[in-house]
Amino acid sequence: MPTRRDVLRLIAVPLAGLAFAGRPGLLLAQAEAVGNETWRWWKEAVVYQIYPRSFMDSDGDGVGDLPGIVSKLDYIAALGVDVVWLCPHYPSPNVDNGYDVSDYRAVSPLFGTMADFDALVAGLKARGIRLIVDLVVNHTSDQHPWFERSRSARDAPGRDFYIWRDGRDGGPPSNYPSLFGGPAWTRDDTTGQYYLHLFAPQQPDLNWDEPRVRAEVHDIMRFWLDRGVSGFRLDAITFISKQPGLPDLTPDELRDPTRVYADGPHRDDYLREMDREVLSHTDAMTVGEAGGVSAEGARTLTDARRHELDMVFTFALVGLARTVESPSALLPAMRRIIAERDRAAGDDGWVASYLENHDQPRSLSHFGDPDLAWRTRSAKVLATLLLTQRATPFVYQGEELGMANYPFTSIEQIEDVRAKREWRERIESGAVPAAVALDALRHTGRDNARTPMQWTAGLQAGFTTGRPWLPVNPDAVTVNAAGEGADPNSVLLFYRCLIALRKRVPALVHGAWRDIDPDHPVVFGYTRTLPDAACLVLMNFGREPIAYRLPPGVLAGEVLLSSEAGTGPAPGVPVVQLAGWQSLILSTAPAL
Ligand code: GLC
Repeated sequence: MPTRRDVLRLIAVPLAGLAFAGRPGLLLAQAEAVGNETWRWWKEAVVYQIYPRSFMDSDGDGVGDLPGIVSKLDYIAALGVDVVWLCPHYPSPNVDNGYDVSDYRAVSPLFGTMADFDALVAGLKARGIRLIVDLVVNHTSDQHPWFERSRSARDAPGRDFYIWRDGRDGGPPSNYPSLFGGPAWTRDDTTGQYYLHLFAPQQPDLNWDEPRVRAEVHDIMRFWLDRGVSGFRLDAITFISKQPGLPDLTPDELRDPTRVYADGPHRDDYLREMDREVLSHTDAMTVGEAGGVSAEGARTLTDARRHELDMVFTFALVGLARTVESPSALLPAMRRIIAERDRAAGDDGWVASYLENHDQPRSLSHFGDPDLAWRTRSAKVLATLLLTQRATPFVYQGEELGMANYPFTSIEQIEDVRAKREWRERIESGAVPAAVALDALRHTGRDNARTPMQWTAGLQAGFTTGRPWLPVNPDAVTVNAAGEGADPNSVLLFYRCLIALRKRVPALVHGAWRDIDPDHPVVFGYTRTLPDAACLVLMNFGREPIAYRLPPGVLAGEVLLSSEAGTGPAPGVPVVQLAGWQSLILSTAPAL
């Protein structure tokens, strides 16, 4: 096992001659502390997220499947990622594309068989890649046998697996809103009581205060761990503990109910119990979806001393796609959020870095510049941002190609349950004109990220031989994996280089993060510093070239990676020429 001295010697190896090929080894020795931070394998991992419906279809039914994923394992391995996160693969009525699970211990027939699942685990393992699966246990499908039993009578065994209440004044028990529009309570005719569903009515919330529910969850986790998975992405996990009495929300709380939903009194106890019962016996990783949680709250959840979660997805950064319209306001907001979450994480927490997933619009379309002349360049800047944080990066399928939002022209083209419910609510109530609602969906709708993966310039982008469940983005003729794999200037090849660089430069994973020029309007620059080595990341978030003067005390060393071939400053020069939408990663002096 290398000692700390060996590691520092490794860091000091001249970095300019890096070869960006092959699978890297571990950056730091297991169990070795980095400053005050504890080493864990998943801190050095890069995760690739797969939405199985949209990744690759092997049987021509228009829906992606597990054999489709297996056929693309070499593509995934060539990216250099260490972990695949597979979105729900369980049997489901698919009201919410698998996030309404009707059987937790099986594979959806749409996606294949358990043998296909085993083949996926084995194929990944053969390539040195681990698999984590989505665990959707804040709620089940209303067609799960537990719910069918629970709803059958007031005194049914297992009634209290879910949350039932009498109505109030002829209406729901409280004013809780569903996060998908409408009330979070639905009256069930069989017993005349209401059940709680923070999402769609077909997604009833489980009652985590019932110990048998928690025991079932632990058992499900063991089932998949025994099948070879290396961890879980825990869906909507901050909502598992409900407020005592489920009282009405105040008008202020109604503006963002997730803050209340995430703040139940037993959330942390239930997570610690899960750790004690299941996770502490493995080296599995967890990443929780943490709606309603601030940067400080994320630290609490991921503080290694508390044994709750390894990392969480918070929403502040991706939420800017919905809240900030002006490009000039975007960069200051982004850097503030990144600085805040890094500061909050400190030595004991850990951050999950992401700009996209299956619930968010494509990052290029909002944070980048989708104009044809700039899309490749700006996608590389976003890649740099994603992969150079003190955090575990999560790359969402197609992000590595620079995929963009879909040009939706009608609500008929949209499948997403949330979008359809919100549409009905807003249009039917006359609150918003249809054109405005459609424009909002074009910018922020979840289906933007769910259109088929673009493999080739051919028919249906090579995703299916049939009719795809969502239309293929017309830009697939120019933005696709086959074309980009053969183009040295592509977004895809840049991702491969960046991931390889991150593997070889410990400062990019573990180094302290410092914004070198927080008020600069277009250049986002930060250092990543370990005691004996450091990097400087510079990104131009605009089209105009800029002669950027480094702040006093910041020195440019050798270029480790530039998004523009053959450019970069000579070492020691205080002014760095940055082309429009260029990113540069340099070595710098560690004393900073
Ligand atoms: C999470 C999932 C999302 C799903 C919701 C309800 O937010 O990411 O896709 O709709 O939970 O399960």
